[in-house]
Amino acid sequence: MSIIYHSSDKMYDVIQEDDRILQIMSRMGLPLGFGEKTVGEVCRENNVDAVTFLALANYTIGGKNVAGYYIDKVSVASLMDYLIRCHHYFRDFLLPYVRRLLIEAVNYSETNKVAFLIIKFYDEYVNAIEHHTKIENTKIFPGVRQLLNGYVNPDFHISNFVKSHEGMDQKLTELRNIVIKYYTSPNPNHQEHIYTALEQIIRLGATMKAHCELEDCLFVPAVQLLEEKTPVGKMSFPKKKNLEMEELSEREKELLSYVVQGLTNKEIATKLFISINTVITHRKNISRKLNIHSVAGLTIYAIVNDIVSLDNIKNSMFD
Ligand SMILES: [Fe+2]
Ligand SMILES: [Fe+2]
Repeated sequence: MSIIYHSSDKMYDVIQEDDRILQIMSRMGLPLGFGEKTVGEVCRENNVDAVTFLALANYTIGGKNVAGYYIDKVSVASLMDYLIRCHHYFRDFLLPYVRRLLIEAVNYSETNKVAFLIIKFYDEYVNAIEHHTKIENTKIFPGVRQLLNGYVNPDFHISNFVKSHEGMDQKLTELRNIVIKYYTSPNPNHQEHIYTALEQIIRLGATMKAHCELEDCLFVPAVQLLEEKTPVGKMSFPKKKNLEMEELSEREKELLSYVVQGLTNKEIATKLFISINTVITHRKNISRKLNIHSVAGLTIYAIVNDIVSLDNIKNSMFD
């Protein structure tokens, strides 16, 4: 196994190797117009981890074997960021785009049984993908984020949460077969539409397959390695009393427990019989006292300091 591209190579040369690298650039927030700059230069200028970019690019070109080389080198945070951006791209652009093409191609109507079935199968496929990515966004990524902060959640192990990707493409394959075998266009002049839609269905299947493989071959093993390296019980937030940290009042603790359970400012105000402005002031004070400014960080603090139980968080997150 050899690594094809390094950070000293020109970005343009890497892209020339495989068009799919343009998609990686897009998902990593790397702009075009980089001229003769190297991978290292382009990544540095855009605050992108060059090793992660190279891992994705070389993996795309070289296949699964390359993933093994990068497991202990890749930035898990950057890789997770990339996967999240991919999920957004699927939900907001790719899946609706293919649906529009299909609708246009089959002249969707309930009276045309095959057309109806095609859209139905497609929508079921989209639902399955959305369900899968939702689990990753709401269960897996927050757990990995805790791990990156040095906190080992005894209830979180990536291997327990990772949903098998097997069978994910089944609906799409069925859809492809229905279109190929049974769909005849009522208007022969519209043949190109259905062929275009079919091509995009096949491309969509390949994109999803590559995404799942990347999670299985690189993301999950890299997180497993992180789990092994992070000693159980290590916590990034001080437990119980910390003399350097201002104590939260009982009221603030109560309010914090609602914040981390996902209640809105309005809901908290109603619960505590106070105004929304007072809620906002409390929240600012809590963040200032703890020097923690993200809900994820506050959540970990609240769990570690027994302000809220893990079960409460789980129930609110995974409802
Ligand atoms: Fe995913
Ligand atoms: Fe996945």
